[in-house]
Amino acid sequence: MTDRYAVIGNPIAHSKSPRIHAAFARQSAQDLDYRAILAPLDGFAAAVAQFVASGGRGMNVTVPFKLEAFALADRHTARAEAAGAVNTLKFEQGEILGDNTDGAGLVADLLRNIGCPLAGNRLLLLGAGGAARGVILPLLDQSPASLTVANRTASRAAQLRDAFAGHGNLAALAFAELAGQQFDVVINATSASLAGAAPAIPPGLYAPGSTAYDMMYGRGLTPFLAAAQAQGAGRLADGLGMLVEQAAESFLLWRGVRPDTRPVLAELAGELHRA
Ligand code: ATR
Repeated sequence: MTDRYAVIGNPIAHSKSPRIHAAFARQSAQDLDYRAILAPLDGFAAAVAQFVASGGRGMNVTVPFKLEAFALADRHTARAEAAGAVNTLKFEQGEILGDNTDGAGLVADLLRNIGCPLAGNRLLLLGAGGAARGVILPLLDQSPASLTVANRTASRAAQLRDAFAGHGNLAALAFAELAGQQFDVVINATSASLAGAAPAIPPGLYAPGSTAYDMMYGRGLTPFLAAAQAQGAGRLADGLGMLVEQAAESFLLWRGVRPDTRPVLAELAGELHRA
């Protein structure tokens, strides 16, 4: 019988996940069906229960349900625990395992696709919401020289620093306090791009040869990447690769096989007219 998987969110119509997982399944000759499920804003748990009852084996979870998915899971992986949010559910023997593959996806994209080393480098993470929180532990696991979290509202960055105190050395600053420092990798985890804005960070933060990475993606440069280019970042990358890599990490959790992400990423990038 074909194994069933799905991505659940609201809205969900534009999700690329069904295509990504269909490509992974074809490539690895896995017999599975993956579709998109639109859950009502107050109907997440009911929609998951219905999917499980119909034989569902796993789900990806996207906006706005990642916190509810965390609450729903019976067990969590360490990285989901640290993220406080779940983007991948695995249903096994009547139990729900909650995982979070976003941070692993970001790290894989930086290391494998972009060729940007993290070990020994100075990392700056912009933002202190769920997106930032989800990637901190996987970034710390790469043994950077330093990881600094900066946020428009400095107190939220400090909260993250305190939450991860046991996991490694994390600095927390307001944007203005970054002035005078330099970083090798600057990652935008704010939602500023949604409003067509770039985070108001001081100029001069990009070390020679540094990488600017936006967890969002779009057809052209995001506002953050356009600003980074103007400020001298050596390399620009957006979150399309992270999307494909987090999917691959979910696929690995479910199927025990890590798909080859490159052809899938190339196809999606090509559709954005930039292959
Ligand atoms: P998410 O789950 O996507 O991280 P969130 O929890 O609402 O969403 O967090 C949004 C993040 O983007 C926050 O860090 C927010 O900064 P504040 O904590 O100061 O609100 C940041 N953000 C949103 N719009 C921004 C902007 N125009 N400039 C800088 N940061 C912005």
